[in-house]
Amino acid sequence: MIYTIQPGAPLRGAVQCPGDKSISHRYAMLAAIAQGESKLRNFAGSEDCQSTLRCLRGLGVRMRTEHGSIFISGRGLRGLKPPSAPLDAGNSGTTIRLLSGILAGQAFASELSGDESLARRPMGRIIQPLSLMGAQIIARTGGLPPLKICGTRLHAIRYSLPIASAQVKSCVLLAGLYADGVTAVEEKVATRDHTEIALRHFGGNVRSCESWIEVEPEPVLEGRSLDIPADLSGAAFFMVAAALVPGSDLRLPQLGLNRKRRALVDYLVQAGVRVTAENESEIAGEARGDLRVRYDPAFRAGKLPVIRAELTAALIDEIPALAVLGSQAGGLEIRDAGELRIKESDRIAAIAANLRAMGAEVEEHPDGLTVAGSQRLKGAEIETHGDHRIAMAFAVAGLVASGATRILRAECAAVSFPGFYEALERARTDLHPPTSDLRPPTSDQKVRNSWEPQ
Ligand code: S3P
Repeated sequence: MIYTIQPGAPLRGAVQCPGDKSISHRYAMLAAIAQGESKLRNFAGSEDCQSTLRCLRGLGVRMRTEHGSIFISGRGLRGLKPPSAPLDAGNSGTTIRLLSGILAGQAFASELSGDESLARRPMGRIIQPLSLMGAQIIARTGGLPPLKICGTRLHAIRYSLPIASAQVKSCVLLAGLYADGVTAVEEKVATRDHTEIALRHFGGNVRSCESWIEVEPEPVLEGRSLDIPADLSGAAFFMVAAALVPGSDLRLPQLGLNRKRRALVDYLVQAGVRVTAENESEIAGEARGDLRVRYDPAFRAGKLPVIRAELTAALIDEIPALAVLGSQAGGLEIRDAGELRIKESDRIAAIAANLRAMGAEVEEHPDGLTVAGSQRLKGAEIETHGDHRIAMAFAVAGLVASGATRILRAECAAVSFPGFYEALERARTDLHPPTSDLRPPTSDQKVRNSWEPQ
């Protein structure tokens, strides 16, 4: 489908973002290997998390939905059933990489596959440590999916991550549950720690010692009742939109604000965006709070802080949205982001090509981008490559472009944010009365967005 977006109209009111994708994957997998039933509230409706549930069902895990919560009947650490067909991870790198860790420790063989995009994503990064642990994994040439995993009793390893990747770290820690001793992973660059937090919460024994994380094998994991915060990476598109469209004042309730995930909030504040947090709390070790983002005409002037090294890893999923922000502020340089070339698409190339199509100046580097500031964007046809974050970032760019922007294969937004365009439209209708410090929308800011088949 093509989604056509018209510029103008401030964003107002509250946007309820879907449940956090990273946390949803982990809770579902741990619930599946725990004993007893887990109740997961606000579980992500994203296609990626549905892929995790589909794979778990293929492993004999029973689940049901009731009043918006998912109930998962755990089968215990060693109770998963051999699948009768290959498990389909869809578009989800997190599903295939984390689940591989669990499957490597089973007493049966299994196969994990995915869609066209996933079939191009490198799995050597998990095959290497899992092979060191004794698993036999057969991949396509170049370490690409599908993966045939021959599960076995695993050996504990001490593994220093060669790349900053929460997916690889999590894969090894989950495999460590099935090892013959304490497994340790070293990360020199900190990445999201949802696996460590969730494992502790389900009853696992995980310790952090400087840059090393250690996990004890054979824990007795217990089913839990858990509430999942809203997804900050999905909210990022709305935060950038509110920072850019005059008159915006947006509330984003109960977003996950985990210390290792909230770099976006700190970055935007540092960049001069008016972001405030309220009602902060912590549930099951995961911080959360309501965010309010208000348009501030003073914001656009400055160059955004350079994104490099550790900051790149901390903002890895937010870079498409921030590149759009940079083009409207005083520019942005992004470095050390080679990983972006092997996400759902080559995001460096996709951001550069689409910003250029909209008339912006962009320099592409092997490991990043330099986006020129104060660019006047014009509506264009956006090639998303079926990548959800590219689609959503350029829908936001369309809000500040002149003329219509057409997002191709726009439906891919549902990979992480089902209902994204509808939420964007709702936030742009004038249902919400302007507050005193905001400029009311002008009459030419009428929104006429539309869907058409591709
Ligand atoms: C994720 C980790 C990140 C991120 C992805 C989700 C996770 O990938 O880009 O969207 O849930 O662990 P890497 O760990 O490979 O950087």
